[in-house]
Amino acid sequence: MSKLLNYLKNKDYSYTPIWFMRQAGRYLPEFRKIRSQNPDFLKLCYNSTLASEITLQPIKRFNLDAAIIFSDILVVLNALEQHVEFKGPNGPTIKNFSLERLLQVDKKNFISKLDPVYKAISLTRKKLNREKSLIGFIGAPWTLIIYLLNLKKENEINYDLVEKNRESIDLIINKLLKFLTYHLEYQIEAGVDIIQIFDSWAGLIKEEEDLVEWCFKPNNYLVNFLRKNNTPVICFPKGIKKKYKDFVKNVKPHGISIDSDIDPLWAKENLDNSSIQGGINPELLLGDEKHLIIEVEKYLETFKNNSYIFNLGHGILPQTNPNVVEKIIEKVKNFKK
Ligand code: CP3
Repeated sequence: MSKLLNYLKNKDYSYTPIWFMRQAGRYLPEFRKIRSQNPDFLKLCYNSTLASEITLQPIKRFNLDAAIIFSDILVVLNALEQHVEFKGPNGPTIKNFSLERLLQVDKKNFISKLDPVYKAISLTRKKLNREKSLIGFIGAPWTLIIYLLNLKKENEINYDLVEKNRESIDLIINKLLKFLTYHLEYQIEAGVDIIQIFDSWAGLIKEEEDLVEWCFKPNNYLVNFLRKNNTPVICFPKGIKKKYKDFVKNVKPHGISIDSDIDPLWAKENLDNSSIQGGINPELLLGDEKHLIIEVEKYLETFKNNSYIFNLGHGILPQTNPNVVEKIIEKVKNFKK
């Protein structure tokens, strides 16, 4: 059993596992080389051999406890017959969203479109040391809907558009939940042993009732599905501030990934039913190294007698120097609990 799995399943806290969100890609020169030869990002996600190679790149460089499969949360929307574009300065966009097309897709077509992802997973599992976990992932329905309905303007949400689409949002959440469980089922079958659910835009939901309906309930549905399938899950409802407490109480995931707005001490006192993961601001990896190491120590010391999985408060930034990542890993590996 991998160390991270042992940690989440058997609660063996004598050790601090470490991995990084977005560890596969962007900041690694060996990724950028492959990326420059593959201008179509979606095609690269569906190239099983290259996707597996990219997944293993950070594992070859660093002593990490888990690999996360190279893919994207938006491949699910593409497999639901939507046109996803990764070009452009404002991140990925969906062109000509069609609710009708979305609702018509059946399981067979969906799975066959995502088959290269499952092939990449089984290829990777064969090459990955048994001590290391292979993490699969999905985007939670709300975060996918943000892209699907183009609800975001910079870091704000267009609430008029939300109000106009209330009925479709509920319909879409149900469709997504069903198809996300298919995607989870096939990822697990192919060899992932832990799942992370990214709800990166949960913090944009303003009303308490909407947070329950659009974030807590869908995440809870997915967590229950994974519990039935005996697969630990880490949830990341980014940006919901003190509502993290209600999230953990309602959703009950095995692990909870905190963002950089969350005070680690507060997390320790309030989120103690789940293993806590992450927290350090990714921006700190770009700044003064001494300051960074002090922060790393702060998180390690805060959670010394608790369960803690080392990670950041969001993905590694593209400008990060890989040597800094190396230093953090060394620090965490040398820390005695
Ligand atoms: O963690 C990993 O290394 C595994 C691969 C992974 C990618 N995307 C690859 C990727 C994972 C887990 C994701 C998740 C993802 N994708 C999220 C949730 C996590 C988060 O960061 O909040 C979201 C919201 C997306 C949607 C997405 N895909 C955005 C906003 C972007 C553009 C900006 C960016 O993050 O680079 C992408 C493209 C993307 N996904 C890239 C990579 C390596 C960059 C593609 C490129 O090289 O141009």
